[in-house]
Amino acid sequence: MGAMDQKNSELFRHVMSRFPTGVTVVATLLPDGTPRGLTVNAFTSVSLDPPLVLVCIDKSAVSHGQLREVGRFAVTVLSVDQAAIARQFASRPHDGRFDSVTWRTSEGGSPILDEGAAWVDCVLDRVIEAGDHSIFLARVIGAESSGQEPLLFHAGAFGGTGA
Ligand SMILES: Cc1cc2nc3c(=O)[nH]c(=O)nc-3n(C[C@H](O)[C@H](O)[C@H](O)COP(=O)(O)O)c2cc1C
Repeated sequence: MGAMDQKNSELFRHVMSRFPTGVTVVATLLPDGTPRGLTVNAFTSVSLDPPLVLVCIDKSAVSHGQLREVGRFAVTVLSVDQAAIARQFASRPHDGRFDSVTWRTSEGGSPILDEGAAWVDCVLDRVIEAGDHSIFLARVIGAESSGQEPLLFHAGAFGGTGA
């Protein structure tokens, strides 16, 4: 959609916001040991054998180049009590996003946030160009769920499953 299709672009955004999703933080460790990450709801499983997932990352995000360069990342599925973390990891500037959260390093060497509903540890398989985003297709090398209720995102608002 070009600038001439501004109205269609808004409609597309609005319609897609009616598709409820979970909310994740996709994070990697820079070579100097600095954790970097961003809030992502464009996350889905792709294949069971081999286990593959994808995340869609805005080309203008600082994380885009970092995830591509490091080539590994972890996806923490946030729990219902972590809406503030979802906002924090979406706000700019990105410095200090990890200051007020507790996290650990996965076996694959990526940051996993504590108290999430689940996580998957990933090694990047390939990056596929897709308009103003890129699809990061990744192999899953570890995964775990905590049993906590996940955070949902729907119509621009955070909530729980109500379960
Ligand atoms: C609920 C929610 C979902 C988001 N999902 C995505 C997403 O799927 N992909 C993406 O690139 N940005 C997504 N964002 C926006 C990024 O988190 C935001 O642009 C962030 O500041 C990028 O950080 P960076 O530039 O430090 O990488 C989402 C934001 C929110 C609040």
